[in-house]
Amino acid sequence: MAKSVLISNVLPQESLDLIPAGIDVDYHDSELALSKADLIKRLQGRAGLVCHVLSTIDEELLAAVPGLQVVANVAVGFNNIDVAAARRHGVVVTNTPDVLTETTADFAWTLLMAASRRIVEADRYVRSGQWKAWKWSLLWGSDIHGKTLGVVGFGRIGRAMARRAQGFGMRVLYHDAVRADASVERELNATATDLDTLLRQSDFVTMHTLLTPETRHLINERTLRLMKKTATLINASRGPVVDEAALVRALTEGWIAGAGLDVFEDEPTIHPGLLPLPNVTLAPNGEQEMPHYPLNGYRVTWQLTDAENKAFLDGSAIVNSADPFSADGEVPAHTAKGAFKLVIKLLRPDGSQAMERVLASQ
Ligand SMILES: NC(=O)c1ccc[n+]([C@@H]2O[C@H](COP(=O)([O-])OP(=O)(O)OC[C@H]3O[C@@H](n4cnc5c(N)ncnc54)[C@H](O)[C@@H]3O)[C@@H](O)[C@H]2O)c1
Repeated sequence: MAKSVLISNVLPQESLDLIPAGIDVDYHDSELALSKADLIKRLQGRAGLVCHVLSTIDEELLAAVPGLQVVANVAVGFNNIDVAAARRHGVVVTNTPDVLTETTADFAWTLLMAASRRIVEADRYVRSGQWKAWKWSLLWGSDIHGKTLGVVGFGRIGRAMARRAQGFGMRVLYHDAVRADASVERELNATATDLDTLLRQSDFVTMHTLLTPETRHLINERTLRLMKKTATLINASRGPVVDEAALVRALTEGWIAGAGLDVFEDEPTIHPGLLPLPNVTLAPNGEQEMPHYPLNGYRVTWQLTDAENKAFLDGSAIVNSADPFSADGEVPAHTAKGAFKLVIKLLRPDGSQAMERVLASQ
């Protein structure tokens, strides 16, 4: 019987061109999310789902689609998927880590610089014709070089931020659920602290944790009040990591100086209190991700082969399991449903496989 897959949102044409013959594909060629009911309907009888963060994969959906064997999330974060429920149903979840590490760090660093140097305000000031004469203290922002960067979530992207901070002669503090190796701390000149110390001491606080129940609203009224009044908050992780209502109060009442955000609690809805504030720089999350693959030369592709099925059944390393309980990349034998494996790969223009390189280092 032909293997059968649902692709629940748009993928680049060059990826679609790589789908092997003989695979039965239902392709929802749209940037709009399918409703849960439609997702469940279209997944009936299908073994694989290729999805974006727009698709919520929860217990209800998994229970309603007993034939599903793999969910391949075309994203770094996988907070749209209940990984524990997937494990209970024997569904393998994969993601695409590291493909956006440097891109996201570039963008987060851009937000940091724009917010601290008030670039958006300056641009508006010039365009609107307000610049009539030299003025002392005109749109002064705050320096970045020599300051302290606090990285919350010292994973791939957090570390990429710490690397950028080296070029600005910054002191780097970090907070993470897991302490980094001493060699990494040395290389990035980074010091582990508890969250409160990091918030009290940092001039810039940049958020790069996963979104989990523990990190939801990690930045809230209490933690914002710990920050310096001169500090800038950057969030390029997931919106709900920051309590937006508390952030609005912090920016309005001067608990902190500014913020740069490309993720929001209820995207694409922005908290109305943020919109009139001059001291927050806002960017749409999608802008960075959706056109990203063709723009910077990566290509998403995917594979479904017998050889990989065999590796899967043998319990060999699987590609990018998002399941924290199989962090070594092994599929627990009792949960693996079986004879099917779907892998999303990212290829560089020269054909080298970014993800396999990542796997080799895991
Ligand atoms: N803005 C964007 O466009 C964009 C792009 C890519 C990724 N992201 C987000 O960035 C996040 C980070 O990506 P990454 O590749 O660096 O992931 P990663 O897994 O390498 O790093 C996440 C880090 O968060 C830490 N963490 C988890 N729970 C924590 C807690 N309770 N307290 C402190 N630290 C905790 C982990 O230990 C890990 O070191 C992703 O989850 C994704 O949601 C956003």
